[in-house]
Amino acid sequence: MTQEPIERWRSETPGCARRVHLNNAGAALMPDPVLSACTEHLELEADIGGYEAAAARVTEIAAVYDDLARLIGSRATNVAVVANATAGFIQAITSFDLSPGDVIVTTRADYTSYQIQFLSLAQRRGVVVKHAADLPEGGVDPESIRELARDPRCRLVHVSWVPTHSGVIQDAEGVGRVCEELGVPYLVDACQAVGQLPIDVARLRCDYLTATARKFLRGPRGVGFMYASDRALARGDHPLYVDMRGARWVDADQYEIAPTAMRYEDWEFPYALVLGLGAAVRYALAVGVELAGNRAFALARRARASLAGIPDTRVLDGGREQCAIVTASFGQHDAREIVKELSRQNINTTASLRWYGLLDFTEKQVQSAIRISPHYYNTEQEVDEAIAAIGRLVDSAPCS
Ligand SMILES: Cc1ncc(COP(=O)(O)O)c(C=O)c1O
Repeated sequence: MTQEPIERWRSETPGCARRVHLNNAGAALMPDPVLSACTEHLELEADIGGYEAAAARVTEIAAVYDDLARLIGSRATNVAVVANATAGFIQAITSFDLSPGDVIVTTRADYTSYQIQFLSLAQRRGVVVKHAADLPEGGVDPESIRELARDPRCRLVHVSWVPTHSGVIQDAEGVGRVCEELGVPYLVDACQAVGQLPIDVARLRCDYLTATARKFLRGPRGVGFMYASDRALARGDHPLYVDMRGARWVDADQYEIAPTAMRYEDWEFPYALVLGLGAAVRYALAVGVELAGNRAFALARRARASLAGIPDTRVLDGGREQCAIVTASFGQHDAREIVKELSRQNINTTASLRWYGLLDFTEKQVQSAIRISPHYYNTEQEVDEAIAAIGRLVDSAPCS
């Protein structure tokens, strides 16, 4: 790849001038168009009033749904804008009236909050949570999902396509095929996938997909989106706590749910962020998600290869396919201390603790790990600089 697009992407990303930002799995640096979409709308709200500003931008707001639909290969009527990925997950999961003994099948590496919420469902609703086994090389085994989801009490399968604490890309399509064969509803957490992996909901065969704006999609914080399939809408699925945007109160004892995925939305919206989300989607589509991902993966491979050369360092990412999340542990060193020192050198990374990926990290005997997540606008030099700094820190820091 030539330097020209990289330089352009960087010049459109003000944050690049000040920091080596390798925390795109936390929140990526927003490009200019995203920032202006948000600030212009806030200024309009201040100028003419919040409700009036939303009315003035009704066409642009509607276009956000078309853009999201293009990004994931669906129709706009299957897309809902939500506060974040977790909010979307909750909207989807409360659409199932789970009873004691019902089974949820998930992976050993699904997102921390969702594992906690599954446990809460187990403790409060008597739901049985089953974790599918991993393949020997890492990553969930779709055949193990099949074994567990065959249970007639299985109500749904949930997979975090890219876990928060690991660079593995789960075989989300393989799991989708199994779920379709078994006729079991399938929920995909695409929070870390969106922006680094092309998404086609038809290939995933999922009932629901949830995501957030701020990560590899490069949108603002505080907004996300979800997809609900025609199958889910036709079943009459809707969230337990459906809002007045998602339903109308039509009689004293009756409500009527919206025919589209709007049934998952709340009435109150941060419209500035919604427009920022739309700008991020258009920017991602203009760059090309596949190209963005391939470049980010190449930078991640470079980081893994260099990390492997640092004494006491274990690169933890397994599986057949790895993405732009690099995780490594450093013997007895606390990754949080390394992250703190890197931050003093203007290098942004983050630390994952054992409980973030409890099942996975316990098996790997990891207490803490660094998470380095480059994106396409990062440079090879930035990655090299970060790994060299880590090498010096590991060498000089006392073990904790
Ligand atoms: C894999 C994964 N899923 C879901 C989430 C939740 O996203 P949000 O914080 O937008 O709710 C995260 C957040 O880090 C994540 O990494």
